[in-house]
Amino acid sequence: MKTKKLEISYQEYSSLEELRPEDRELAIAAIEAMKGAYAPYSNFCVGAAVRLEDGTVVTGANQENAAFPSGLCAERTAMFSAGAAYPDKAMVSIAVAGGAAGVLDPHPASPCGACRQVMAQYQTKGGKDMSIILVGDGIILKFSRVDDILPLIFDNI
Ligand code: THU
Repeated sequence: MKTKKLEISYQEYSSLEELRPEDRELAIAAIEAMKGAYAPYSNFCVGAAVRLEDGTVVTGANQENAAFPSGLCAERTAMFSAGAAYPDKAMVSIAVAGGAAGVLDPHPASPCGACRQVMAQYQTKGGKDMSIILVGDGIILKFSRVDDILPLIFDNI
């Protein structure tokens, strides 16, 4: 038996200005996308912005439904939209921003397990690392690839 350790490195920034321009633009797009949230049940608004390999940005926001499982997170709304509109373009980055009543929370929104799994598959499909930028008010986290937020990815494609 061997005990093994997983180590994850990521960057932490304290303002949007510290990000490189491409990442800043995506973070701002995610914050802007929060306006599209339809969250009458949780009142928690989440926006996501996906950057494709050619620079195109596709956004999404969480959409809730009275039949709860029928709703969808912001990340998957954005990724499914990007996947449907640009099936041949790799997704190279995704930014996520969220907060109650549409006000950006200091604590960065962190994707749920189902969204991480979907990110993993689009990363494999695209053949390029997809970075993840989690945006809070005054704290922004950047991970280089989906493997860093979903170790031991289930991947059978
Ligand atoms: N939600 C997202 O859209 N993304 C996340 O990363 C976490 C949660 C949504 C789902 C639901 O509409 C609301 O936030 C409260 O959980």
